[in-house]
Amino acid sequence: MTFLHVEPVTFEHHREPLGIGERAPRLSWITQTDIPGWLQRAYEIELDDGDRTGLIESADSVLVAWPGEPLQSRQRRAARVRVHGHDGSASDWSSWSWVETGLLDPADWQASAAAPPRDLLADPDGPALLLRCTFTLRGPIAQARLYVSAHGTYEIELNGRVVGDDVLAPGWSSYHHRLRYRTHDVTALLADGGNAIGATLADGWYRGRVGFRGGRSAIYGDRTALIAQLEITYADGTTDTIVTDGAWRCSMGPVTAASLYDGEKHDARLLPAGWSEADFDDHAWLPADALPHDPALLVAPTGPPVRRTETLRPVEVLTGPSGETVLDFGQNIAGRLRIRVQGPAGHTVTLRHAEVLENGALSLRPLRHAAALDEYTLRGDDEPETFEPRFTTHGFRYAQIDDWPGELNPDHVLAIVCHTDMRPISEFNCSNPLLNRLHDNVRWSMRGNYVDLPTDCPQRDERLGWTGDIQVFAPTAAFLYDCAGPLASWLADLSAEQSEHGTVPVFVPWISLETASDAVPAAAWGDAAVVVPWTIYQRTGDLDLLRAQYGSMSSWVNHIAHLAGETLLWDTGFQYGDWLDPTAPPGNPFEAQTDTGLVATAYLAYSAGIVAETAGLLGHADDAARYRHLADQVRGAFDTAYATHDGKVTSDSQTAYALALRFGLLQGTQRRVRAGERLTQLVRENGHRIGTGFVGTPLICDALTDVGAIDDAYRLLLQTECPSWLYPVTMGATTIWERWDSLLPDGSVNPGEMTSFNHYALGAVADWMHRTVAGLAPAAPGYRRLLVRPRPGGGLTHACASLATPYGRAEVSWTRDGEQLALVVVVPPNTTAAVHLPSDPDNAIEADAGRHVFRCVLGQAAG
Ligand code: BGC
Repeated sequence: MTFLHVEPVTFEHHREPLGIGERAPRLSWITQTDIPGWLQRAYEIELDDGDRTGLIESADSVLVAWPGEPLQSRQRRAARVRVHGHDGSASDWSSWSWVETGLLDPADWQASAAAPPRDLLADPDGPALLLRCTFTLRGPIAQARLYVSAHGTYEIELNGRVVGDDVLAPGWSSYHHRLRYRTHDVTALLADGGNAIGATLADGWYRGRVGFRGGRSAIYGDRTALIAQLEITYADGTTDTIVTDGAWRCSMGPVTAASLYDGEKHDARLLPAGWSEADFDDHAWLPADALPHDPALLVAPTGPPVRRTETLRPVEVLTGPSGETVLDFGQNIAGRLRIRVQGPAGHTVTLRHAEVLENGALSLRPLRHAAALDEYTLRGDDEPETFEPRFTTHGFRYAQIDDWPGELNPDHVLAIVCHTDMRPISEFNCSNPLLNRLHDNVRWSMRGNYVDLPTDCPQRDERLGWTGDIQVFAPTAAFLYDCAGPLASWLADLSAEQSEHGTVPVFVPWISLETASDAVPAAAWGDAAVVVPWTIYQRTGDLDLLRAQYGSMSSWVNHIAHLAGETLLWDTGFQYGDWLDPTAPPGNPFEAQTDTGLVATAYLAYSAGIVAETAGLLGHADDAARYRHLADQVRGAFDTAYATHDGKVTSDSQTAYALALRFGLLQGTQRRVRAGERLTQLVRENGHRIGTGFVGTPLICDALTDVGAIDDAYRLLLQTECPSWLYPVTMGATTIWERWDSLLPDGSVNPGEMTSFNHYALGAVADWMHRTVAGLAPAAPGYRRLLVRPRPGGGLTHACASLATPYGRAEVSWTRDGEQLALVVVVPPNTTAAVHLPSDPDNAIEADAGRHVFRCVLGQAAG
């Protein structure tokens, strides 16, 4: 008895369908079936207003156009789907899934920005202030929605209960252009009669200090404010709207200082009991100022908010050299502590955070100008008091706890992992425990560096949306997590921040700092404008994202082509180049081996090629031809300028060859073969230690694989001597480090100023592990067709990757016994796969939906 079942539809990239911003959200569905080779012939969609598409003859099931009238603000619609297979099979209707829009028109917003009066404002990163208002319900209610955002970061309560579970809301976007609001269903939080809303408002990114070398404060404004609109629908259909305005009242609260970098100070004695409840007496509070704001900037989120995603207990209690108590949580994270403490009123407990220990003590130097210090002053209750800072996060594995009253019970200190609540969609494992740990470390670095936006690091005075880091990491990110929604939001910021002539700032949101005051174009960093949307398209099939980003993608390429000028070589101006290659001295990460003009010109060719393909997909035939021509010309110019007739490439570095080979920059098979040989030789001469920085690292294993040196790729990957991917693992790393040697072999911290222990860029090799070690890759956008091409090697006896593709779960798993290999491939319904057996990697076997087992005998070449 076979089954055929359609899962409930999903909308856009949302997993949480309340308060979306799309008027015509695209629908996706996954068919579950055990019918071998099942392919969809047709579908029908029904909306709950009775609209039906009828039978649509189409195989599409991912991001299918909205079939109804465009949605209005606050509109809730449900949809369901039914599918028909080529084999004549038909499913039942899926269950209904609903979606509800937020406020889609600026005119929907009646709320002012309620700003605490200047009298309460201190210097930036000062106290978090309390705001409240009361209102009375006129009768029984049907539903209530709270639309809320802020200039600053906020936590909001209704009648004493926290609304939602967002952390650091509204997150950081390019506030000059886009400010995200959230929609909460607060129906169950309202009470008959009198009600109160209370908000705690901290400076956050809006007014607090952001940026390196001292950073800047009040970047977006010197007044924080809450923007909230509570819309109540009564059972009789009438409505009331409560908004932030001058009737709100403000006061100081228990948070006496809150800084993203420095931490939070909380004096529990200052908490006005019941302050967010209706009967609280606020006559001594000051009125808020109702400030104007531009509602056109308010946008609904395209992805989930930051949340608390995991709780860790200490694995060890240590005593530092001065007798201090240090807790080891066993894992480097982004987040904060939650303590349960009892003691006398007015007593202060201090919490310090660090990623590593040096000589047994917290190593604070890598944090630069981030104090990462929380303080809790007790109320002195009879019961234990609980404290978790709300307006800061830290990057840490170790915490030093000072002045704990009485004896510290380590179970009373928890580490709370916080990051964007993206859905994990994949698994990888293999027979080598060090590689498994490396892969775990990559995942943890993704978690640590997605506190609302893709950042460089979570711990020091930076945490910026560095474009280069996500550019190289995007393929890995897109395999590990469903990050299309969050990245689409970041890309919208990137486009908004792009200058008129096309320059993409090196971090987004861009803030002008004293040491980085102009947004200058830099290769491999600005190319995020092109590579990130392209990667998401490859992994999700979201063509509309390319459509939305096309202007940004093409104007970046136009600009860098202009900078390259007639020679088509971009060899002037500022560049980061192959940032932090292992030969760069600790004090100068710029001083990599590879010529920066070579890197920049290679990226110009690469990005022009992607824009050409994008233009073709979007139907811009003239553009497609023009960018293809540009890409060809730049390739030719690169070849002439940077390569010799026998395939030697300038700089003669691992990165130079990896770029030339992977980006197709060398003409002639013979020369490519020679370049491949030279790359292999370099890798061998270097004792299979890595020689690449941010730019070469994601490419080198693929380049070696392409030129038939897969054994050398495995030896690089499995190297444990410094520098290598596994060296940090052998040193106890639980995340990916910024430098190959953030911790030196003698256990001391690298003296350079760029010494983070949680930077994902060098973890970009995980993408090769997924595609080549396990062998799971997309052969068509969105994995509509799989490329299964495992290349066993490195002494591994087993590797496996599984992925929740947009069509359902795919899996590739191989086991090796001597030269015998068994390969299991799971192909999701409505897709096909090209399977390349390791015994014959150049030829494909066709596989259709279902589970397949292949067996083969490995030749010498398979290692
Ligand atoms: C960041 C990097 C970033 C770089 C620019 C650093 O400070 O941490 O990851 O990409 O600057 O090269």
